[in-house]
Amino acid sequence: MKIRAKQGRLGREPADLALIGFFEREKTLGSVSRELSPALAGQARAILQSKEFEGKHLQLSVIRSGTRAPLSRVMLVGLGKRRDCSLERIRQAAGRAVRQARDLGCARLSAVLFAGDQEGTATADWAQAMAEGAVLGLYRFHRYKTEGKESKKSVKQLVLLDPSRERVREIQEGVHRGQVLAEATILARDLGNSPANDATPTRIAEIAQEMARENGLKCEVLGRRRMESLGMGAILGVSRGSQEPPQFIILNYQGAEKKIRPVALIGKTVTFDSGGISLKPSTNMDQMKMDMMGGAAVLGALKAVAQLKLPVNVVGFLPATENMPSGTAVKPGDVIRTLSGKTVEVANTDAEGRLILADALSFAARYQPAAMVDLATLTGACTVALGHHAIGLLGNHNQLLDAVKESGTATGERVWELPLWEEYYDQIKSDIADIRNIGRSGAGTITAAAFLSKFVDGCPWAHLDIASTAWTDENRPYAPKGATGIGVRLLVRLLAFSETLRELCRKPALRSRRSHKAPA
Ligand code: BES
Ligand code: MN
Ligand code: ZN
Repeated sequence: MKIRAKQGRLGREPADLALIGFFEREKTLGSVSRELSPALAGQARAILQSKEFEGKHLQLSVIRSGTRAPLSRVMLVGLGKRRDCSLERIRQAAGRAVRQARDLGCARLSAVLFAGDQEGTATADWAQAMAEGAVLGLYRFHRYKTEGKESKKSVKQLVLLDPSRERVREIQEGVHRGQVLAEATILARDLGNSPANDATPTRIAEIAQEMARENGLKCEVLGRRRMESLGMGAILGVSRGSQEPPQFIILNYQGAEKKIRPVALIGKTVTFDSGGISLKPSTNMDQMKMDMMGGAAVLGALKAVAQLKLPVNVVGFLPATENMPSGTAVKPGDVIRTLSGKTVEVANTDAEGRLILADALSFAARYQPAAMVDLATLTGACTVALGHHAIGLLGNHNQLLDAVKESGTATGERVWELPLWEEYYDQIKSDIADIRNIGRSGAGTITAAAFLSKFVDGCPWAHLDIASTAWTDENRPYAPKGATGIGVRLLVRLLAFSETLRELCRKPALRSRRSHKAPA
C-alpha cells in the first residue's frame, strides 16, 4: 500500500472509501461537514446523533450515498474519549479501519488525519502512528499458500488530505517515518512466521547480508571455524545437536563519527528450539520456529536506523543456531566453556538462549559499546509473570532502563521491569562449574537475566524478554495472528530520541577497543 499526504479536501478526492476519525460523544461533524456531499454529511450527522455510532475506540460504521464519484462511502472510525487519546490508540484505530476497508473490497482510501486537531502532540507524530497502524494492520503472511492468493482483496493506496500546505509537509514526514518502521517490523514478522526449514541460520545470514547491501551497512558472518578459534564454546555447544551450521552475524551501521561509541544490539536467534535433549512437549512445539524473534528485531531495527539515517553508531549481533537433540548434542549435566572463560553447567539443554547470549554479550562487550540492549524470547516464565501485554525488562543501569521504558510506552511496545537483586544469584550457583544455566525455585525470567548479567563485562545493559510478546495467538488491531515483530519500533525510538543514550555514546572508551580478530 502506498500512503501519501496531499493538499486538498476529502469530498473532491476520488476514493472507494474515506476514513474519518471521531472522538467519543463529540457528536458534531465539525469542519468535516464542508468536505462531504450534502447527502453524506446528512447521513453522517444522523448516525452521530443516534446511539448507533458513539465513537467508542475501534468502533466502525460505514455510510453510503446513492451518488457515485468522487466519494460515495465514508467510514466513521471511533477514537475513544479525547482525553484518553494516545499514539497507540491511533495505531490501533488505523489498523482496524484499513483491515475493515480491505474486507469491504476498497482499494483506494482517503482520510483526514486521525486526532489531527488534538493538541500536545506534533502533527507528524499522529501521521506516523496512523501510517504504522495502517501498514501493519494490513500485514498478512501468505508466502506459503498456493491457492486463493489472486482473489484476495487488497488496499492499494491511502491518501491523507489536509487543506494546509504546511501541515501536508508535516504529515508527509510522519508518514515516511511510519512506513519505514512498519516495513522494518514486517521484515521481522516475515522471519518469525517463516518455517524453520527455510529460515535456517544460514538463510538468516544471507538475508542479513542482503539487507546490509541494500542499506549501506557492513555485515560480517562468522562460521563454525571462526567461532571455534575465538572460543565461543556456548553457542557451539548449543549447535552441536543440529545438522544446520551455526552462524554468528555482525551488522555495523555508522551514522556518527568514529569516536562516538556504538550501541550494541544483541538478538537471540534460535531458528528452532526443540529443547534439545531436554526435549519440549510436542504440543505447540511448532511455535518454536519463532525463537529467533530477538534477532529478527535487531535486523529490523538496523534496517530502519539506516533508512532513517540516524546520527548514531550501532552494531547488531545475531548468534544464530538451532537447538536440536541428537547423538552429538549437549547433554544435561555437561559443562561448557564460554567465550568469557567462565564455565557453565548445562543443567537443562532447553535453557539454550542464555547460553548463546552469553557468548554474544561478551563478544559485543569487546566493542566497548556505550550500552548493550539484548532482546530474546528467553523464558516461558515471562508469560506467567506478565501475560502477553508487556515485555519483561531487566538490567544494570537505571537511566538506561528508564529510557527503554519511555520508548516502550511511546511505541506501544510496553515493558515492565523485574528486579535483579543479589539474592537471586544464589539460585544459579553450580556445584561443579562457575554457574548453572537454570535457576532453582522460581523467578525464571529473573534468574535467566541474572545469568546474562554475568557476561556484560560492566557495560550498561538492558535485557528485554520478549517470549510472551513476540507471537500472538489472536488478531490484534494492528497485528494479525503470528509473529508481531515487537522490539523494532522500541529500539529505533530509543536510538533516535534517548538523551541518556546520546550521553553514554559521547563518553570516551576506557581502554582501546579490542578487535575480535585479536586473540581472546
Ligand atoms: N525459547 C524458550 C522460551 C519460550 C517459551 C519462548 C515459550 C516463547 C514461548 C526458551 O529457550 C526455553 O525453553 N526456556 C525454558 C527455560 C527453562 C528450561 C529454565 C522455559 O522457559 O521453559
Ligand atoms: Mn529452550
Ligand atoms: Zn529458546
